Amino acid sequence: MRLKWLFDAVKLTVAEIGHFAANVANQRDWVPQKSASSAAVEGTLPVCSIAIQERRLAMSRSRRQFLSQTAGLGLVIVCGKTAVSAAESGEDLEESPVPAGEDLMREHGVLNRILLIYEAALARLPQAGEDVAEVVHEAGTIVRSFVEDYHAKLEENYIFPVLEKHQRLTDVVAVLREQHAVGRKVTDRILKVTEAPAWRQSENRRSFARACRAFIRMYRPHESREDTEVFPALHHILSAKELAELGERFEEEEERLFGSGGFEKVVARVGKLEARVGINDLRQFTAQLD
Ligand SMILES: [Fe+2]
Ligand SMILES: [Fe+2]
Repeated sequence: MRLKWLFDAVKLTVAEIGHFAANVANQRDWVPQKSASSAAVEGTLPVCSIAIQERRLAMSRSRRQFLSQTAGLGLVIVCGKTAVSAAESGEDLEESPVPAGEDLMREHGVLNRILLIYEAALARLPQAGEDVAEVVHEAGTIVRSFVEDYHAKLEENYIFPVLEKHQRLTDVVAVLREQHAVGRKVTDRILKVTEAPAWRQSENRRSFARACRAFIRMYRPHESREDTEVFPALHHILSAKELAELGERFEEEEERLFGSGGFEKVVARVGKLEARVGINDLRQFTAQLD
């Protein structure tokens, strides 16, 4: 498939590529001008046929498809130059599409930052006050809504079935599914014992510590395995077009659940929680040599 794309790509003239890039920069509907070769282009280049024939996406969506689908061919270099120029001129560019794998990985970044918050809370035990419990409780609600009810469900509904269907990493996927289920139970516990009345009891703080350590211990290898084995495996099963469409679907689901700029809002919430437990300054983590 990739070789065919490459073969098709050479049919584009430099002028046509420039025309596409100019339309992208201007955020217009991405349709090639009618020229002697345009019919041939429409009939042979997947990117064009999507933009011209399907017509199901909005103008901005066409631009996003162009960027996504040409990235695999190296044509993004042309667009990248244009995009930089537009950025330098102060033009408000729409965010470029996020491929499915990168989308899931950056959500792992959110999870990792929450694990750091959990660790900061653990470090304050056994005397941690209700302010710490409040922070952990809110972090737990983000885990519930963003990690478990959104991110993990994307994996369960769209990623794992692909691997299972193609008999890839089935043993790993089975464990990942099980860990999602266990993780939800652990989060139930964390949310329960970090309620203010419960937190006042030392046994509940000990219960929090056990649950929190178990969650961290499970989710670090879990997400690492997904990042390094599961998501890369998708590239051997799905085409670039299918991966791009999956990324679009993820973004739509994110917007449906969390509104416009949903990811950024969640990151901002996590940042505020980091500040409340004193781990927001990145420099504090810089290694110190003797
Ligand atoms: Fe997962
Ligand atoms: Fe994940």
